[in-house]
Amino acid sequence: MPPNISQVNEYSLPEVTENISSAVAPMTVKEYKRIGEGAFGTVYEAVLKYADDAHGNSNSEWLGPFAIKRVPAQTEYKSRELEILRLVNHPNIVSLRFYFDKASNSQRKTVFQNLVMECLPSNLQSEIKYYRQSKYTIPYPHMKAYTFQLARAMLYLHGFGISHRDIKPSNILVDPSTVVLKICDFGSAKKLELNQPSVSYICSRYYRAPELIVGCSLYTTKIDIWGLGCVVAEMFLGKPIFQGQSPESQLKEISKLLGPPPNTFFFKSNPQYRGNMYTNKLFSCSVEERFKQIFSNSPADAIDLLLKILVYDPDLRASPRRVLVHPFFDELKSKDFHVYPRGQSEPIHLNLFNFSDFELSLLGSLKDELIVR
Ligand SMILES: Nc1ncnc2c1ncn2[C@@H]1O[C@H](COP(=O)(O)OP(=O)(O)OP(=O)(O)O)[C@@H](O)[C@H]1O
Ligand SMILES: [Mg+2]
Repeated sequence: MPPNISQVNEYSLPEVTENISSAVAPMTVKEYKRIGEGAFGTVYEAVLKYADDAHGNSNSEWLGPFAIKRVPAQTEYKSRELEILRLVNHPNIVSLRFYFDKASNSQRKTVFQNLVMECLPSNLQSEIKYYRQSKYTIPYPHMKAYTFQLARAMLYLHGFGISHRDIKPSNILVDPSTVVLKICDFGSAKKLELNQPSVSYICSRYYRAPELIVGCSLYTTKIDIWGLGCVVAEMFLGKPIFQGQSPESQLKEISKLLGPPPNTFFFKSNPQYRGNMYTNKLFSCSVEERFKQIFSNSPADAIDLLLKILVYDPDLRASPRRVLVHPFFDELKSKDFHVYPRGQSEPIHLNLFNFSDFELSLLGSLKDELIVR
């Protein structure tokens, strides 16, 4: 049962759609906690139950807890977020259980779309903050397990051609007691089609790939891999790696680690770009040495992984399958691998290699490298 809190919002709905079966039924919703507030929506923790039948019999139980994301419904076109959440089915992507539309109580004319998802207790932003406050980082085995699951979610999404377009720690849900990770917030996600332009003003500033910063409109799903690299770097550093004070100075922050962007980069990304190119080298050593300076406390295999991900040219940036087979994750492949969830004295084993046939086909020849021994 949900905890007893003062502001409970209970209401009945004539039509709630169950995601998998598409069956529509009347249900009662009880919202009891606000757990998220974003640029677009509000997220509540809630329980749902099927309404009493025509004879007034009630034998249904409260289901949940769930997370309900409420955003103003789009009038002109179908909600991409709903469409994509209905399409996907992966252990590392938040699952949609029900959805419904509802007019707002205060503004009767505004209709809100409500997405009822499985609920996870935390996200990576909160986890990173929690450890930073006690002057630690997330334990390395947990970081490896989280990064592996994030790359697995990307392999799957990119396999459909879908780019998330807003990878950042607060959009990555985790359960610290099971070390399970699931990507959420598909409010910016889109299926990218070859040679069809998309807007470049997406993705939160610190996590934007360099091609987006210079206004590229024919970008690829590799923008998400850049975000993954920024998230991994943040787990090691305890703070965002590239904190530009303006959208453009974001490129300067990147050049402080990677050196000046190659000239071909601007031409390939956006020949019309007229902004600052940050051509001056801001450090004298090699890029490899620069990474070792910045990530001075991080293990060599983690630095090597980041060197393969934080690359200007999206074509040379590691793909999800290349990330998954990187030696950084070798430890996870031992059948003795275990983690101690925070505050627990008993270790747990993780099920990270239960690839579906679709994932195996995406891995191709690399699948033989992803076997537990
Ligand atoms: N399924 C869920 N389980 C638990 N918490 C969730 C869930 N979905 C979202 N949240 C929480 O709510 C927050 C906001 O949700 P979401 O990112 O989907 O909304 P948003 O309005 O698009 O956010 P933003 O614009 O800030 O990225 C998340 O950062 C997360 O902390
Ligand atoms: Mg969000």
